[in-house]
Order: sequence, then structure tokens, then C-alpha cells
Amino acid sequence: MSKTKSPPLMEKIVSLCKRRGFVFQASEIYGGIGNTYDYGPLGVELLRRVKDAWWRDVVTARDDVVGLDSAIIQNPAVWKTSGHVDGFSDPMVDCKTCKARFRADKLEDARCPEKPSKHPGECHGELTEPRSFNLMFKTHVGAMEDSGSVAYLRPETAQGIFLNFANVLSASRLKPPFGIAQIGKSFRNEITPGNFVFRTREFEQAEMEFFVPPAENDRWYEYWKQERFDWYVRLGIDPAKLRMREHEAEELAHYSTGTSDVEYEYPFGWGELEGIACRTDFDLKRHAEASGVRLEYFDPQTKEHYVPYVIEPAGGINRMALTFLIDAYREEELEKETRVVLRFHPSIAPITAAVFPLVKKDGMPERAHEIERDLRLAGMSTFYDEKAAIGRRYRRQDEVGTPFCITVDGDTLSDGVVTVRDRDSMEQERVPAAELSGYLLERVRTWKRA
Ligand code: GAP
Repeated sequence: MSKTKSPPLMEKIVSLCKRRGFVFQASEIYGGIGNTYDYGPLGVELLRRVKDAWWRDVVTARDDVVGLDSAIIQNPAVWKTSGHVDGFSDPMVDCKTCKARFRADKLEDARCPEKPSKHPGECHGELTEPRSFNLMFKTHVGAMEDSGSVAYLRPETAQGIFLNFANVLSASRLKPPFGIAQIGKSFRNEITPGNFVFRTREFEQAEMEFFVPPAENDRWYEYWKQERFDWYVRLGIDPAKLRMREHEAEELAHYSTGTSDVEYEYPFGWGELEGIACRTDFDLKRHAEASGVRLEYFDPQTKEHYVPYVIEPAGGINRMALTFLIDAYREEELEKETRVVLRFHPSIAPITAAVFPLVKKDGMPERAHEIERDLRLAGMSTFYDEKAAIGRRYRRQDEVGTPFCITVDGDTLSDGVVTVRDRDSMEQERVPAAELSGYLLERVRTWKRA
């Protein structure tokens, strides 16, 4: 008997994301819009968990980093000064036959739209010479649409942090080394097809500018490289699929003297998950020169003014969420079936606990609802399900990565004890309902990758 060929991993993930409400194509009913996606009920929960974990570990848990939320549309002079108006571009080529446009440096990743088995240029279509294509989205502010009203959607959140360096310094009374962190949307008119949500035109970034005395630059660069790599491992990513890659000199951005990427081995190859860059004093100095405002620190001990150097860990929330999804995905052969399970770290899982009445009668649904409400009040994300056989309900939760399923049965009504079923081991344990939230929170805290 011939075995049906199973679709490649990315296809399975894209299909699961749509079916279970993680990610939908944006404007789908109008045929979509390139490289743009919407996040469904489980997708927003996943993004929220990733953002919470990042904020918790980069800001809340530390006494040397504070937060910021700067505007998406800033004075256009910001982007002239930062170098983005003149330099934030990709080399593009056009196909003279099919008129499609491709990144000249990523032709091996692209496919001819008319002959998808071929790369552009290998399909008898002649390519133009590379031309520079700026990635910033332009818009106009105010009532007039003329050159005086041009503004840009930010292509990175980092600049908003540099603009507020002096404000935060005086408001927070911090002194270098200290960091300012921000999570927010950024926009880039990406041309290369993006491998699902890996590369999209709007995306959320989580960036932190860590301002240090220049002499401490190298020490903090090493520190943040290690810290950010370890963060992914702590959140359950397979360390064998992660690597740190130092940029070659010709790859460095105009502002950087050294950059390392945390890379993950995606089904489509190794790719950047997050970059850690030495931005030196480039940005503060440029903005100080262009605005006429001093952007420096006065050290009361040495009585000297200096411009701090900057170490920047910069990641994408959507790319992190995609990485957690891919890394968590497993197909496990059980006795009579294949189980699809997302083995998320429980603090990343969109639903922490699903609550089921064993049957839809004898007061079990009412008690299950009460237990579910108590877990919600303890800050957990929950899901109530009373449909179908219990085994099927477990499978549906496995597929979206819910670490714990709680069943209320006949005994619960008399002895107050529920069954907690573990997603990873599939083992079951009896736990008093009164102790459930504390028990689950401890299990989340002590979870280890199997
Ligand atoms: N401030 C520095 C900066 O923006 P970057 O390497 O261009 O550096 C940082 O972006 C991170 O943002 C990347 O590592 C990636 O995770 C995410 N990112 C960048 N472009 C993206 C896109 N088009 N779609 C999704 N995520 C993106």
C-alpha cells in the first residue's frame, strides 16, 4: 500500500494556525494583501504571552531598565538624521517579462511567479540591474498632501528611544549603564515573500537600548548576547536549533560596529530571530547635532559630560511567536493515532488550563464553570469545553498547546478533588480543587523541556 506523502512542516503549521485561530490572512475575503496577516483569538494570546515574557525579563525583573511607548509617526527629520531616508533600502531587480520585483540579494529564496519551480532569472525572464528601493512607508500628516507634509511610519522602534533619552534620564534619575525598552509596531515595505509571518510589512518589535559608559561597551555586548540567547532556551526553545552568528563587516548596518544574530533553524533554513548590535554613540550624536539639543550624561563623580555607547537587543514579537510555534510542534505516534501537540513552555501557551465536566449532567458543568472562573481570577487563561468524548477534548487542547486539562467528575462533587492531565506526559493526577490554582502556577514555574 502506498503511503500518502505528508505536507512539509511549514504547510502543516500554516494550516493549524488558520484552523485553530492563531493566524489568518489579512483582508482574506478580498483576496488578501501581500505579506500581511491578522491574529485570531489564540494568536493574540500567544503574542501577548511572548510580550509579557519579554517585558517581565527585560524590564520588570531588572532595576536598570525602564519602559517607553513612543509615537509611530515622528517628525520626518528623525528619519533623515537616523540615516533611514537615505540608507534604509534593499537592492531590487525587476523581471522584464513578468514585471515582478525581487530583492537582488535574495534571488535564491524567491520563485518566479509564473514558473514557481524556477528562481527569478532562471525562467528565461531577463532581470534589470539592481536599484535601491527604500523600505519606509510614506504618508502625509494634516490636510495638505504636498512635499511639506510627508511623514513616515517608523521602520524601527529604536529611534523613539533615542529621541527620549534626555527626557527619561531626567525623569527616572538613572545613570549608565541603564536601558530603555519598548514594544510596538514597526512598518517596512518588504518585497521578498516572507515565509508566513517570518517577514511581514507590519510587525511588532521588542527593542531595548542599553546606554553604557564607552569603556564598558564590550563587556555589555557580551552580556546581552548571552542573556538574549539564554532567554530563548529558558522559554523552552531547543538549544540545538539556536546559534549565535557574528555579522561579517560588509553586513553591518550603517550605525553598527558589531552585531550578532540569535538564529533559529527554521524549516526553510537558518534565519535571524533577534539581533544584538553595538550602536556606539552614533544615534545620540547624530540627533544632538541635527536638533541642537545636548544628548549626553553628566557624571557627577568625574565631573565629565559624555555620550553613552549603546548595546541594542532587537527582536520581533511575531517572529518570536512563529519560532515558539515551530519549535513546539510535534507529531507523536500513539497506539491507535498520531497526536499533534504543541509543547509550548506553559507560560507561552495561549491557554493555561482547559476545564471539562466529565459529562454534561449531574451538576458537573456548574462545578466546572466555578473552577474555571476561579482559575481566571487567579490570572490564568482558561477554556471551558463540554462537547465530545474526553479523549477528543484532550486532543483538541494538545493541538493548541494547553499544558493542563482539568476534569470534574462525579467524585469531585463529593470529595472536591479534580483530575489534572499533563499535556506532555499525558499522566493524570488528582488535586483538591481548593489547591488547584497554586498547584498549576507552581507547575508553570517549574516546567522543564522534556
Ligand atoms: N533597531 C534595529 C532593528 O530594527 P532589525 O534586525 O532590522 O534591527 C530587529 O530588526 C528584529 O525585528 C529582527 O531580528 C526580526 O525579529 C524583526 N523584524 C525585522 N523585520 C521584520 C519583518 N519584516 N517582519 C517581521 N519581523 C521583522
